[in-house]
Amino acid sequence: MEQIAVKGTHDIIENEALSYQEIELLLRSIAEVYGYNEYRTPIIEHSELFTRSVGESSDIVRKEMYSFQDKGGRSITLRPEFTASIVRSIVNSKLYATSDLPIKAYYMGPTFRYERPQAGRYRQFNQFGVESIGVRSPFVDAEVITLGYNCLRALGFEHIVLKINTLGDDGSKEAYKTAIKEYFSNCIDKMCDDCQERYKLNPLRILDCKIEEDQQYIKNAPKMEKYLSEDALKYYNKVIELLDELQIPYEKDDTLVRGLDYYSDVVFEFHYFNAEGKSIGALGAGGHYDKLVNELGGGKLDGVGLAFGEERLYSVLKEEKLIPDYHTQLDFFVMPITENEKTQAYIITDFLRNLGFRSDMCFIEKSIKSQFKTAERKNSLFAVIIGENEIQTNAVIIKNMKTQNQQTVYLKDLEETADKLFDEIEKEEAHHHDEKE
Ligand code: HAM
Repeated sequence: MEQIAVKGTHDIIENEALSYQEIELLLRSIAEVYGYNEYRTPIIEHSELFTRSVGESSDIVRKEMYSFQDKGGRSITLRPEFTASIVRSIVNSKLYATSDLPIKAYYMGPTFRYERPQAGRYRQFNQFGVESIGVRSPFVDAEVITLGYNCLRALGFEHIVLKINTLGDDGSKEAYKTAIKEYFSNCIDKMCDDCQERYKLNPLRILDCKIEEDQQYIKNAPKMEKYLSEDALKYYNKVIELLDELQIPYEKDDTLVRGLDYYSDVVFEFHYFNAEGKSIGALGAGGHYDKLVNELGGGKLDGVGLAFGEERLYSVLKEEKLIPDYHTQLDFFVMPITENEKTQAYIITDFLRNLGFRSDMCFIEKSIKSQFKTAERKNSLFAVIIGENEIQTNAVIIKNMKTQNQQTVYLKDLEETADKLFDEIEKEEAHHHDEKE
């Protein structure tokens, strides 16, 4: 019986995988331009890592973690995000004691959350992100936000909405939480079940509620601004000033509180709205955390980071036609005319592969016409034809699939001719490129 993929998961195959490669290549190169180094951490972690970091009151820990007992009786979780793992890896390696600060990590890979699948929401999805750890400075916050903004610009997004807010430091957060609790105490029983739950666990998250009927209560809730300490306000204002300096547009949004518990001070989200004003949710998001490193056993170090959801980037880029249709491609497709030339075709294909050309051959007994069709479907630039005649003369026929020009090439000249053919293609492409410009 045909087996299907697990609900909320999806395959990324063939041409689509090429698009993901391009997106990742670009994000990776930008992170490197900003001085970040790649970190690869395990997909599985002790469950406690996430309960201690992402937090007991977050939706992720309460209901979305893929957790299981391994055969040694440990509680293991498939990572729902990277920040906790990156911080753990830095604490375990004591990198902060020997490195210049901040430590700058970038990462990408699969993450898992048991959420209700819908557009832009999967149970296994890929994140790309950065963490900058060890220096408390508005310049670090601004740098992470700038990097995020520039990633989206480089991918081709034009109208990015950057929402930004501050949760303040500990003192500010506590004072605000008390005020929010007091305010909602009068109306919470008229609000949605989620809000009632949040009231008990993390009242600030009520501000995040998207339910229409609850907005009448939310809109009059006390504003964070009044409860911010002088230091927290100064910090926030400096981040804003730095964004202004680099002309990065933003919208201050004092209802933005984020769903993970480790944040303090500056938090932000990047959104994209299509022509109908619709968004599939944040393309990326992040913020500042001042206690996470300490909580996970390191020193009292601040961190700032952000993560993009690669599926969301890809689907919006595709929908808005901001990404070309990538196609898998070959340099040479080798075609034996009959079964008698198959072994020679196999040897020639291997020879071309060893020279670094993307090469493949026809393994199925087919007419030459139908082999040409295959070469076309595989987007091969050249076909290499081998018949009885070619075997006898130690040669092959190389046909340019676009121009249909063909030539006989002796095997002793194959390497040189192949190089020449590709030099010509490169020159032609450069010429087209110059003409376009
Ligand atoms: P997050 O907001 O939970 O933050 O996730 C970041 C991004 O991952 C989201 O903006 C979204 O694009 C994508 N994402 C989240 N859930 C799903 C899903 N179910 N399906 C598809 N995409 C999804 C974090 O994970 C933080 N670790 C970000 C951060 C880094 N904060 C500081 N450093």
